[in-house]
Amino acid sequence: MAGKINKMNSALIGLQWGDEGKGKLVDNLAGSFDAVCRYQGGANAGHTVIYKGEKLSLHLIPSGIFHQNKLSIIGNGVVIDIVQLIKEIEELKQRGIKINDNLKISKRSHLILPSYFEEEKEMKDKIGTTARAIGPAYSNKILRKGIRMGDINSPDYLSKFNLPPEYLKTLESFRRNYGHMITDTVELLRKMLKDNKKIIFEGAQGVLLDIDFGTYPYVTSSNPTPGGILTGSGIPPNTISTIIGVTKAYTTRVGRGPFPTRMEKETEELIRNTGDEFGATTGRPRNCGWLDLVALKFSSWISGVTEIALTKIDALDKLPEVKIATAYEIDGEKQEYFPSEVWKLEKANPIYKSFPGWNNTKSVKEYNNLPEEAKAYMKFIEDFLEVNIRYISTGRERGDLIRV
Ligand code: GDP
Ligand code: IMO
Ligand code: MG
Repeated sequence: MAGKINKMNSALIGLQWGDEGKGKLVDNLAGSFDAVCRYQGGANAGHTVIYKGEKLSLHLIPSGIFHQNKLSIIGNGVVIDIVQLIKEIEELKQRGIKINDNLKISKRSHLILPSYFEEEKEMKDKIGTTARAIGPAYSNKILRKGIRMGDINSPDYLSKFNLPPEYLKTLESFRRNYGHMITDTVELLRKMLKDNKKIIFEGAQGVLLDIDFGTYPYVTSSNPTPGGILTGSGIPPNTISTIIGVTKAYTTRVGRGPFPTRMEKETEELIRNTGDEFGATTGRPRNCGWLDLVALKFSSWISGVTEIALTKIDALDKLPEVKIATAYEIDGEKQEYFPSEVWKLEKANPIYKSFPGWNNTKSVKEYNNLPEEAKAYMKFIEDFLEVNIRYISTGRERGDLIRV
């Protein structure tokens, strides 16, 4: 019915508990696409891109924004803190990044209202949220109490919501300065696909933080999994051919919730420092653990991953030994499948396979120049997951990437 459209689009999905290096990857890949589209989450995301030597964190704006001739699209599934969005636009502009007709925001995306931050307080301690009012934004959306981006064009409509005058002023100022960015992104995407343009969908958070498939209740309030692309952007289901699953060569987690492969203190501190594992949104130190293939087998299946991007292999440099969890022991029984119950996961003892460490992968640009030990480590991951590693990230700079 849709006639001839481009069906060769891609998605980039975090396979762990977020912070896998999605920002760096999207910045690398955006050159091969016509647009980058965010489809879920909000300013809880912190996607780091190194631009002209400076470390920049993107929260709402897609990580392709540094490619000035590519379109950046914020889809309907994203929840928008307008104060944060203005700040982000202004900060990028100050650095000489063009933000004008190259940024499009869905009319159907929901606003994060000032009152939501009060509601967020309880969850901040309970779940260890990023305090960005993400839960209240999605719950109010589902309760049908929300206000959408397109609504800010009608003062009459807004007047029904009893919004604080200061906030109304902020909305008005956004409308005046950036109102032209607010558009029907479903129609925009349809036209692009009709014109044979290629889109990459940028996930925020990761599969293990997914509201349905993650470690509930210690999750975020949206679907980072590919299902979220359909509901969060409005593209037809058969238009994505490549799903890149991003995983670190180890694991990290911020906030509360079970973390079976967490390292003992000394190694964790070492990895936290070499890997610079501090939150891009909140600055919180990230907990660090060994790679968990029980979790990854589940998350790559749920996501229909067609290729893997493995990041931060360099952060494991110089360890005498590295470990990978291949199963769990729960209540004396071996379990190979990732449990859905949080109370089971809390009792899980990982069963590890040990690998000899390696010395130098930092900034290596050719597969052949990687140490044999690192190659063996990656081969094991590929065989276990039955998916090929297509990208190996060896440092934080844009050029620190091997395409296999
Ligand atoms: P995202 O949320 O998935 O985009 O990931 P974050 O940006 O929150 O966290 C990833 C961190 O690792 C950032 O500080 C990146 O600059 C950094 N990073 C990404 N890839 C690599 C890599 O291959 N090696 C090293 N050392 N750092 C990396
Ligand atoms: P990116 O896109 C890592 C975590 C929080 C908390 C839980 C719920 O940078 O990978 P929320 O504020 O979403 O209600 O918090 O989810 N969390 C993330 N952890 N990376 C993220 O995003 C995250 N976004 C949320 O720490 O445990
Ligand atoms: Mg992050």
